[in-house]
Amino acid sequence: MKVSSSLEVKPLTGSCGAELFGVDISQPLSAASVKDIRQALLDHGVIFFRDQTLTPEAHRAFTLLFGDLVSNPVYAHVEGFPDIMPVVKEANDKYNIGDTWHSDMSYMDVPPLGSLLYAREVPEVGGDTLFSNMYLVWDTLPGPLREMIDGRNAYHSDRYLTSRVTERNAGRSSKIKLDVQPSERLALHPMVRTHDETGRKCLYVNFPFTWAIEGMSREESLPILNQLYAHSSRPEFTCRFRWRKGSLAFWDNRSVMHYACNDYQGKRREMHRTTVAGTVPR
Ligand code: SIN
Repeated sequence: MKVSSSLEVKPLTGSCGAELFGVDISQPLSAASVKDIRQALLDHGVIFFRDQTLTPEAHRAFTLLFGDLVSNPVYAHVEGFPDIMPVVKEANDKYNIGDTWHSDMSYMDVPPLGSLLYAREVPEVGGDTLFSNMYLVWDTLPGPLREMIDGRNAYHSDRYLTSRVTERNAGRSSKIKLDVQPSERLALHPMVRTHDETGRKCLYVNFPFTWAIEGMSREESLPILNQLYAHSSRPEFTCRFRWRKGSLAFWDNRSVMHYACNDYQGKRREMHRTTVAGTVPR
């Protein structure tokens, strides 16, 4: 579908994701183009651009069209660019980062609106990223589970990353900062949030960062959370993006989760990620 004179939006699946054509995001964009891109993000949860040539400065400039930049409090940054996070797996690394379904930085009181991941080097095959539409997840959740969690809050913590810095850093080239404080960040968020732009409800819990449901221990929470995670990753809610060098994915962190597939042992993958400031989940 053509949404403006140049921008074309091609949905990737029946659930989420769309490729956008006819725009060079390294160049200054008109207000109308930015509005169309934002609308495509809201409509599809994650949007993809192909064959872009972005310097770190241009990546930052494009991100700033959608809000303030947020620096990652846990991971180290690209030298000279505190708000760009390197997502790198060297050929001899065993592990990548992001290999569980998650919503970025949900352990913050104000988690980011979205993330923009730019491919600088990718393996010939493998290293895809998967996304899941959390509106659909909520809409299709069985009634008794919906009743159990609607109106409840859950704690989100960064301890999945920060309680084992040495172990995580050992097999990965994307490094957690050595001076990061264990369990420094703990946030309480609604388990079902209402998207501040679309007004739609979506499930907002994720495996690495949601620690416990408010008023319950972690042990009491896990059986419920595990059912929610299983439902969230059903294939019919997802899309899968195959990267090429120069691709950029921009996902709405409020309404989709993502998963980075670690299926390219012995090959190198290098991405740069920025994040856009969000609002307090309600
Ligand atoms: C992430 O932001 O979780 C990493 C995604 C990816 O490397 O595909």
